Amino acid sequence: MVGELKKFFEEVKDCKKCQLAYSRTNLVFGSGSESAEIVFVGEAPGYYEDQQGEPFVGAAGKLLSELLSSVGLKREDIYIANVLKCRPPQNRNPLPEEIELCKPYLFRQLEIIKPKIVSTLGNFATQTILGKRVPITSVRAKPSQVGNFFVFPMYHPAAALHRGDMIEPLREDFIKLKEFLDSGVEPEPEPEQLELL
Ligand code: URA
Ligand code: SF4
Repeated sequence: MVGELKKFFEEVKDCKKCQLAYSRTNLVFGSGSESAEIVFVGEAPGYYEDQQGEPFVGAAGKLLSELLSSVGLKREDIYIANVLKCRPPQNRNPLPEEIELCKPYLFRQLEIIKPKIVSTLGNFATQTILGKRVPITSVRAKPSQVGNFFVFPMYHPAAALHRGDMIEPLREDFIKLKEFLDSGVEPEPEPEQLELL
């Protein structure tokens, strides 16, 4: 972590805006490159993430690393964060009020990093970033522009660990993601920015 992200982390690392602050071991801010072209967004830290203060270090993280390297990407090239920065007890689903309180941190991270693509993993991340309740199955691997970046939804690696029939589609989506990145797509400037040109 360098520069702006590091500064922002220092500002939020003791956050107690929601109840999860009182059961967490560590706040899991995010990790990777501040100049990443792709940011992956998961749901919330699990047991190992909470213990280590790093996102995607457990079984789902191992699968994520393997999927990344299968398309020639390294964890140092990208950035990974979650919708919730603190682990929900027993890995229960995030509550709507927890998401509301925590998501400004994610949005600020995206403002600092300015990625081209935000790849949302699973329903919670996808719905939080798209701002609507769409099922992941209907939007997966379909890029759409939101703000200054493209959203590229995918299944959550943890879901694929539990459901054998999801792993192949997830592998295919990683290939599509890499092709999309390599095609040199640039998000259109937002209308406010256009006026300044
Ligand atoms: N699952 C997530 O959504 N995030 C993590 O950091 C780990 C597992
Ligand atoms: Fe703060 Fe988010 Fe952690 Fe809740 S989950 S305490 S809002 S950082």
